[in-house]
Amino acid sequence: MEQAPKSAFVIFGVTGDLTARKLMPALYQLHVEGVLHPETSIVGYARSQNDDTALRESMKKALKTYVKGFNVKAWESLAKRITYIQGTYDDVKGFKELAKHLEDLKQENRIFYTSTPPATYTGIVKGLAEAGLARSEGGFSRVVIEKPFGIDLETAKDLNIQVLEHFAEDQVYRIDHYLAKETAQNLSALRFANTLFEPIWNNKYIDHVQVTMTEPMGVEGRGSFYEEAGVIRDVFQNHLLQLLALVAMEPPSRYDAKSVRDEKVKVFSAMECLDLNHAVMGQYVAGNGMKGYRDEEGVNPRSRQATYAAATFKINNWRWADVPFYMRSGKRLGDKASEIVLRFKKPPHIPFDVPNSMISDRLVFRLVPNEGISFRFNAKEPGQHFKMDRVSMNFYYDKEFDRPAPDAYETLILDVMQGDATLFMRADEVEAQWRIVDPLLEQWEKSKKDPAFYSAGTPGPSQADEMLERAGRYWHKPGNGK
Ligand SMILES: NC(=O)c1ccc[n+]([C@@H]2O[C@H](COP(=O)([O-])OP(=O)(O)OC[C@H]3O[C@@H](n4cnc5c(N)ncnc54)[C@H](OP(=O)(O)O)[C@@H]3O)[C@@H](O)[C@H]2O)c1
Repeated sequence: MEQAPKSAFVIFGVTGDLTARKLMPALYQLHVEGVLHPETSIVGYARSQNDDTALRESMKKALKTYVKGFNVKAWESLAKRITYIQGTYDDVKGFKELAKHLEDLKQENRIFYTSTPPATYTGIVKGLAEAGLARSEGGFSRVVIEKPFGIDLETAKDLNIQVLEHFAEDQVYRIDHYLAKETAQNLSALRFANTLFEPIWNNKYIDHVQVTMTEPMGVEGRGSFYEEAGVIRDVFQNHLLQLLALVAMEPPSRYDAKSVRDEKVKVFSAMECLDLNHAVMGQYVAGNGMKGYRDEEGVNPRSRQATYAAATFKINNWRWADVPFYMRSGKRLGDKASEIVLRFKKPPHIPFDVPNSMISDRLVFRLVPNEGISFRFNAKEPGQHFKMDRVSMNFYYDKEFDRPAPDAYETLILDVMQGDATLFMRADEVEAQWRIVDPLLEQWEKSKKDPAFYSAGTPGPSQADEMLERAGRYWHKPGNGK
């Protein structure tokens, strides 16, 4: 792998959860693999009283918790390049101190990562500009913006305006870590590096598409955040729509930032979310020893916030006319799973004497668990009779390749260092995604209906099954490797 250029990686909100669980482990792994430049500087920035030694100690503790096979020697060579700057996110004083620090470190390539709550993003961007850090003589200056990017189309537009007032679009890296998952990238490889699939990747052969993301976790102490977000803003607007775009976009002429993002924006422009008659908004109640959403800390006891949703999307173009795209996601569902399912149409004519109910073929992309791809199809059972059975062809990442898949954050950090924005969202892309989900959110907020309640630890509300049954379809049971 090509080594990243020498740079300073500045983390705003270095005292937080994301830094401990994802950013620092990713930087450590890149260092162990020799991909990080040996003169990389890591600068932590936050409001908390701290110093270099205390930050290094807390990062070491985090790595011991989150990295398998933590190696003290490797850590020590990285630790000495970690420093701390104390400052706020809305006062230029801290940013000026940061600028001086980067000069002292002789780092002209600079990456600024907003690992802080969204309310601080504009203050950080403005502070960087006021301290002269939005440009770098003799190097690059890049800013990484974490999700969520706005809470609707208007706020996303506003945030884009404020960020782009100080940084050019090619300096801005808007994160959706789902795009960096190996299976998400492999979806593009499967479609565009093989001849078999692309000719049948359309409404002539595909009956419908399902995108599913289930989580056993509840709101984990982040009740007040979730009251503002809900499942549509938290995962539909970003992760699920991004996965859907990878399935539905036209083949790009090149796999680079401009071509791929142009194609995604085109598919988002053709996409619409059907109304509440084709959707289910759910909320978990107490069950299986777990408390209900309304009993969580920071949650209104009469909250209507959706912790689960199933929705129907249409893509109005020649390739996808009349193919429904169903998406569902929720918290406190039995198992953790994330997958994309393409259900093919039945053959136009079946010459065998088999029941009418014969099931059609299915292609499954598993992101979590058992990352890989399965194709399930009909085959003849052995014997003199002509009886069909369902069989599978399976590809598992961990069985096929001896190198473990890197964590998404490793890929993303390296891409930012190397200036590759293919896996990041462009301004027009984020806005197009909000344009799709905003009408559903507005309808839900106006409807005043109760959510469809489901018990914690179950597969979700039965109304979601009924939604598909009405269309003569059913949800794929995720995670079973078939
Ligand atoms: N955690 C995840 O797995 C995850 C996943 C996807 C996206 N994200 C996004 O990544 C960002 C960081 O996530 P996180 O979980 O690390 O957040 P966090 O722990 O809540 O906050 C990170 C740091 O920001 C500062 N901070 C907290 N609340 C603040 C406030 N109200 N005003 C100003 N500063 C505040 C704190 O540092 P000081 O007080 O020391 O300054 C805190 O340690 C968020 O935007 C989040 O939405 C997180």
